[in-house]
Amino acid sequence: MKFTDEKINLVDAMVTLGSAEKICGLHAEDAELDGRHITVNGRRLINLCSLSYLGLEKDARLRDAVIDAVTRYGTVMAMTSTFCATPQARELQTLLAQLFEAPAIITPTTTLGHLSTFAVMIQAGDQLLIDSQAHNSVQLAAKTVTDKAQATLIPHSNMKVLRRKLERLAGTTGNIWYLADGIYSMFGDKAPLEELHQLMEEFPNLYAYIDDAHGMSVEGKNGKGYVLGSRYLHRRMIVSVSLSKAFGVGGGGAVVFQDHDWYRKVETCGPIKIFSNQLQIPTVAAAVASAKIHLSEEIGVIQARYQERVRHFERLAEQAGIPVVSVSGAPMKYVIAGGRDSLKTIQVSKGLQADGFLISPVSFPAVSINQSGCRFSLNNHLTFNDIERLVGSIAANLKAIA
Ligand SMILES: Cc1ncc(COP(=O)(O)O)c(C=O)c1O
Repeated sequence: MKFTDEKINLVDAMVTLGSAEKICGLHAEDAELDGRHITVNGRRLINLCSLSYLGLEKDARLRDAVIDAVTRYGTVMAMTSTFCATPQARELQTLLAQLFEAPAIITPTTTLGHLSTFAVMIQAGDQLLIDSQAHNSVQLAAKTVTDKAQATLIPHSNMKVLRRKLERLAGTTGNIWYLADGIYSMFGDKAPLEELHQLMEEFPNLYAYIDDAHGMSVEGKNGKGYVLGSRYLHRRMIVSVSLSKAFGVGGGGAVVFQDHDWYRKVETCGPIKIFSNQLQIPTVAAAVASAKIHLSEEIGVIQARYQERVRHFERLAEQAGIPVVSVSGAPMKYVIAGGRDSLKTIQVSKGLQADGFLISPVSFPAVSINQSGCRFSLNNHLTFNDIERLVGSIAANLKAIA
């Protein structure tokens, strides 16, 4: 997205209005958080905005690991890892390589992982074909390499258009990169990996960079994610994940390579590693504890608990006739409420708050101008009764704006 003055003014107006209506720009007022509730505007609500889908942020093993590490090492080791990594960084690297069954670079954020990888992997003359709904962080990182590669947006998850583009580009010398998400962060739909894999087999200069921030932990063996856990993972796919969502720690991302030389190149030469601070002591400690849970059989039990909740919601929403945009088994759900009329989105969001639920109101530019609506995420702290009451509240609030 180009941040023109017109768009900046529109976003400014939306956020100002949302803050005045007390549906965004909020501050948690709790003395303690239990994962299930959050207090805002003086009211204790069920929290449907958390992206910590598995509820690991309240796991005592992660908490104790942070306390122990900070007690022993301090809150920060302020130097880049090019010179010296933090005491537990090697252990985390080893555990994550086991979890992903492939080497991974660890970055302070997912966005910085994109930036570092693109800087090294994308070469002069390459073509970037960017899915129109790829996360803003991917699109932002792509802009940093447009001095050497040409970028084109292509329609969302449309493999026919991708094929046509590839056929048209046949004979060009550079590599062609398809940039996309694994599980899309707004609507929760999933990249068409089977078709993509087929195209990658047919076109040897096609590479894919996929941001699977939301697939991490909730899907795949050992919680390696939707893309890395898929049978359609291709050797020319590079997959980035987040550690600060379902993995349950306070920051961090990882970029996972199927090719060891690519990994080594980005690990050694990636600008983030050289110029930015590294993932810090408390986060590394929590990540080590979370990785150990992911590598044990327990992760299957935790994933099953989450899937039960997602299925329960999807079943009830269908029965209630709620038009959930994508019913994919993903943790985030989106209902268009208002469409072009964001005032209706505000009305529904306030109605849900009045019924005891905190959801995220979403409008342009996070979605297109006619898709304003409500996004909410399911997580392991929720009870089945919470989900049943939520479905009733959504149905009633949508009826009120019909
Ligand atoms: C799909 C996706 N990728 C990347 C990011 C950015 O992650 P980070 O804050 O770790 O850079 C987000 C943020 O929520 C996201 O949803």
